[in-house]
Amino acid sequence: MKIGVIGAGYVGLSLAAVLADKGNLVTCVDRDREKIEQIKMGESPLKEEGLDILVQENIEAERLKASSNEENAIKDAKIIFIAVNTPTENGQIQLQNLKDAVKTATNYMTDNYPVLAIKSTLTPGSTRKEILPLLQENGMEPGEDCGVCVNPEFLSQGTAIQDVREPDRIVIGELDEKSGELLSRLYSDFESPVIRESMETAEMIKYASNSLLATKISFINEIGNLCKELDVDIYDVAEGVGMDSRISREFLDSGTGFGGSCLEKDIEALISLMKNRGIEGSVLEAIMSVNESQKVKPVEILEERIGSLEGKRIGILGLSFKPGTADVTNSPAIDIINQLINRGAEVTAYDPEANENMKKIYGDIEYSETYTEVLEGSDAAILVTDWEEFNNIDRGDLKKMSNPLLIEGRKIDHNAPEKFTEGVTWP
Ligand code: UGA
Repeated sequence: MKIGVIGAGYVGLSLAAVLADKGNLVTCVDRDREKIEQIKMGESPLKEEGLDILVQENIEAERLKASSNEENAIKDAKIIFIAVNTPTENGQIQLQNLKDAVKTATNYMTDNYPVLAIKSTLTPGSTRKEILPLLQENGMEPGEDCGVCVNPEFLSQGTAIQDVREPDRIVIGELDEKSGELLSRLYSDFESPVIRESMETAEMIKYASNSLLATKISFINEIGNLCKELDVDIYDVAEGVGMDSRISREFLDSGTGFGGSCLEKDIEALISLMKNRGIEGSVLEAIMSVNESQKVKPVEILEERIGSLEGKRIGILGLSFKPGTADVTNSPAIDIINQLINRGAEVTAYDPEANENMKKIYGDIEYSETYTEVLEGSDAAILVTDWEEFNNIDRGDLKKMSNPLLIEGRKIDHNAPEKFTEGVTWP
């Protein structure tokens, strides 16, 4: 099937590469010309496991194409995926990128009944209220000249390819049966269950999913804070709780709270939608407030242990919002560094991938190329991201600090004695 993809970010490019690998002819477009040039050369502009090889193989096989010319992607395409980002401003989701992409699509759609499939995250009701009128304004009558589906994406950074190839479910929110049929046909060789719903239901499934994941994290962090007081290990508790199949062990890793560009943004958008409808979002508000205070807990614990941080040199291990990515968006490391600077500490940091990205936020702190280098010059340290390599930390590494103490924001499997470490929600 001929497919166009507008937006070559994590969602767009992972989808394009997987669909091409399944034998479809996929062309992706993006405003970022540099990105497009890289893809054309068979390279992935994004660091994501398995994506580079998939891009390379499918570019070589000419099933995957990249272009800066939108017409090349959209003309004759049966399905046009829109995978541009929808940032929030004061909790309100900004639709300009999406509207521009839809407008572009209408300029070049030529197929008999092309279907616009929206991957971008939109608050429930937005596709009907904002996108359908835009299609009409541009001379395309939805349901007559073209189809529309809301097809939310559930991939996580770090496991994007696997998540696109074998999602737990494929959700199709359809304007009409014809649109839904065409998209179902595209997914017919996927082994995942496909559910077909209204556009609004599909939009809500995406928000409810991300909010529930965040709920689990804030919940386990709140219980973890109590566990720490009682000298109970929250990870043992999570193990026992997670064995209940109704609950599951997933997303019960306690620590410094959630970061990234999705969970926070989606909850804020949902809270804002609720406010507009006069509904109290007290659970969602609580998730956010637990998360905010959780992010800076390691600094409070550090201060309790070593007193004033004024003039102390504090090492930060890990800067990205989770391992496997260089992305620092909403990373707890940002709040932690900010708190340390406010308390007069000197900060030195290391991340195997994210140093460069954090330099754009904190240009004045010191960055190191190894974690041992950070520990050597520090009075004490905070571990923020549970990169695999930190499991190698041992007694000798921690003894390099003048006051050997590592506050762990994430649980790792280190070989250091307990007296030199303290977990944020575990002993
Ligand atoms: C999240 C969702 O997991 C995806 O399903 C969704 O498609 C995506 O948002 C999106 O809307 O685009 P992502 O932000 O890539 O994916 O990362 P997650 O794996 O969800 O992690 C988010 C944050 O939660 C990280 O900071 C992570 O360290 C933290 N986390 C995760 C915990 O603190 N505890 C856990 O048990 C799991």
